[in-house]
This record gives sequence, C-alpha cells and structure tokens, in this order.
Amino acid sequence: MRTDLCDLFKIDVPIFAFSHCRDVVAAVTNAGGLGVLGALAFSPEQLELELRWIDEHVDGKPYGVDTVMPMSYEGKERGLGKADESGGVDAGVFQDLIPQATKDWIETVLEEYEVPQLSSDVDDADGVGGGNTGLLGWTEGGGRNHIDVALRHEGVKLLVNALGPPPKDIIDLAHEHGVKVAALTGAVEHAQRQKQAGVDIIVAQGTEAGGHTGEVGSMVLLPDIVDAVAPTPVLGAGGIASGRQAAAALALGASGVWTGSVWLTVREADTSPLVKEKLFAARSRDAVRSRSLSGKPARLLRTGWTEAWEREDCPGTLPMPLQYMVCSEAQTRITRAARKAGTKAQELVGMPVGQVVGRLNAEVSSADVIYQFMDEFIESVERLQQTLDTASER
Ligand SMILES: Cc1cc2nc3c(=O)[nH]c(=O)nc-3n(C[C@H](O)[C@H](O)[C@H](O)COP(=O)(O)O)c2cc1C
Repeated sequence: MRTDLCDLFKIDVPIFAFSHCRDVVAAVTNAGGLGVLGALAFSPEQLELELRWIDEHVDGKPYGVDTVMPMSYEGKERGLGKADESGGVDAGVFQDLIPQATKDWIETVLEEYEVPQLSSDVDDADGVGGGNTGLLGWTEGGGRNHIDVALRHEGVKLLVNALGPPPKDIIDLAHEHGVKVAALTGAVEHAQRQKQAGVDIIVAQGTEAGGHTGEVGSMVLLPDIVDAVAPTPVLGAGGIASGRQAAAALALGASGVWTGSVWLTVREADTSPLVKEKLFAARSRDAVRSRSLSGKPARLLRTGWTEAWEREDCPGTLPMPLQYMVCSEAQTRITRAARKAGTKAQELVGMPVGQVVGRLNAEVSSADVIYQFMDEFIESVERLQQTLDTASER
C-alpha cells in the first residue's frame, strides 16, 4: 500500500489520521501512518504542550496539525475574529451578537433534561467551558495562532485546514518551513480554488464523514475532484475505516486516505466511556447532519441535543462562530451532569461521527487499526486481480 505520498512524507502507508487526541496521533505515526492533531479546541499554550509531548513520543517521525480557518463566518467581512498584536482574539464582540431568545430556549432544554447550573468551582477540565468563551479556534485569528505554534516544531510536516483554503501568506509561510499544506473540501469548485491558492494536497471529503461535511458522497466526489485538480494528489475521506474502503478510494484515483471517525473508539482515544459505548451501539443512520454544533452542517451522533434543534419551538441555529459559543456552557453542564449514571443528561451527550460508526464495534489499538487496514487492502487488491486473471483465462 505505497503511493508517492509515502515517499514525500517518509511514511510506510498513506493513511492519514485526524484526531484531537495526542496519544492517537503519536500511535498512528509510530505505526507507519501520519497522525494529524486537531488544534481547534486548544489554546496556543495548550497546543505547544501537546506538540512537545508528541515530539517526545514519535522519535523524529513526521506528523501534522489541523486548524480551522473558515472562508466565511459571522462578522469576518467586518474584520471580527482577527488576532490583535498580542495574538488575542476578542470574543466579546461575538457574544454581543447572540440573541437572548436562543439562550433562553437552551435553558428550557437543559431544564427538561434535568441539567443543573454550574457550581462556582467550575474549571476548564471538560475542555469546552468554564473560563473558555467557546470561540475556540474557529476564526482566522485563532487559526493563525495555532499555525505559529505548529511551525515551531520540526516534526510537523503537514498543515491541514478545514472549511476553506488557508490564506495565501500562511501557505507561503508553511512552504518556507518545508511544510506541505492540505485542505479539506466537499465540492469540486472549492477543490479547484484550493489548488489555485497553492494547496499541495486536497482532501476530498464525502458527505459520509464525521464533522463538517458537504452533500455529495465519496463515490461521486472523489473521482470528480481527482480529475479536476490533477496532478495534485488527493486524499479520499468520508466513510473510510477499513482496508476495503481504502482500496476503493485508491481505485477512484486517491493517493491515500484521510480518516477521522475510526480513531474515536481506539484504545488510546480520550473519548469518554459513555460516548464510546454510544458509538459502539450506533448504526450508520444514527450519524446525522446537523447545524447544532457549530452553525455549519456537521455529521454528529444523533442525541437528544441534535433532536432538540429540529423541534418546532427551536428558534433556529446561529451562524459560526456564534452557535458553538451559545452552546459551550450548556455542553460543559451536560458533560458534568452526565458523569452520574442513569441521569437524563446522558441522553444529550454526543460527538461528531461519520456513517462508518455502524462498523465501530470494539476497542482495538491504533496500531491494530493500521495493520487491519493493510491486511484488508491486500486481500481486496488480490481479489480484484483475480477478476482480471479469470477474465484473461476465458
Ligand atoms: C470527532 C470529529 C471531529 C472533527 N473535527 C475536525 C476538525 O476540527 N478539523 C478538521 O479538519 N476536520 C475535523 N473532522 C473531520 C475529519 O478531519 C475527517 O475529515 C473525517 O472524520 C473523515 O471522515 P470519517 O469520519 O468518515 O473518517 C472531525 C471529525 C470527527 C469524527
């Protein structure tokens, strides 16, 4: 299972793994793939610590960092969300744009599910609340701060951006550091724009994927993007969690695969036991496209929370980055309340996940996932080879 990308990154297999968990990133890189750390939820200081830890655990092997610099978000055209000279991004201007009616409605949902208020000792241990404004890295300024940190680490060989191509100066800066740039897309026109912007690798992500996702399925999207941006290499993403699916992606013209959901249930993942249990139990149809997380369509595990945002009394979701901001304290409260077994709050707990969730049924190590990919890939290619042999014997 070797392609040009293996030589480019000095990796054994062209399996790229997105995860917010440093242990998964290191484990995949150590198993011969390329682990990519999602920076979104980390402050620049936290990201620095995570990358230092990865450096110490991968013995000089390459890894990547993923940021989110959306092409569009509320207030971007007015200059909101840019970092100031000290790197700070003003969250207050976004807070002022959040309607009181949405806050009140969220409170009624939390009451229905018996989610208590936060006690005054709340901290950021849940990663989404307390002193956190909920702005995360979902603005251009936030993404830039992450990139400054990432480029200080020699092991970082790939920068990836979601929701659009990164700005031109960022691409140039990455190239000056000898770092390749990839960008996710779910549409052919966007892939062409990314190529023109100087992106080195396009991640063609079908609607099956967990997280922000478009409307076109991988089977149709991938060959269309491969043809539209050739000879730029393309990674197939969305619905790939096995060697058979990787073989299909390579058959459609991809130079490798970009995976996310499959890493949520591995042994090294920091996914909570409750969520792991829910993911093991879920079927493909339980991964629904919803704006309730961030304001843009994202595929998430169906929960009481996603269903509430579909109700008639719901005032509607807000544009990015306001939606996550208005929900962030609620998410902290839900996470805390759900720690107690048997609470109604547990019905609200979920996670972005793709349609492959139906196949995630047991906890294995990250290295085993990579080895299973390789075994199944070989079996698939041999099976296809037999169809040629049989045909030529006729
Ligand atoms: C829990 C979760 C969080 C995600 N967050 C991000 C993110 O912050 N940035 C990003 O570029 N992609 C994100 N994605 C999308 C993945 O990078 C990847 O494209 C997707 O998971 C591939 O499809 P799959 O889920 O079918 O493997 C996320 C996916 C999941 C499952």
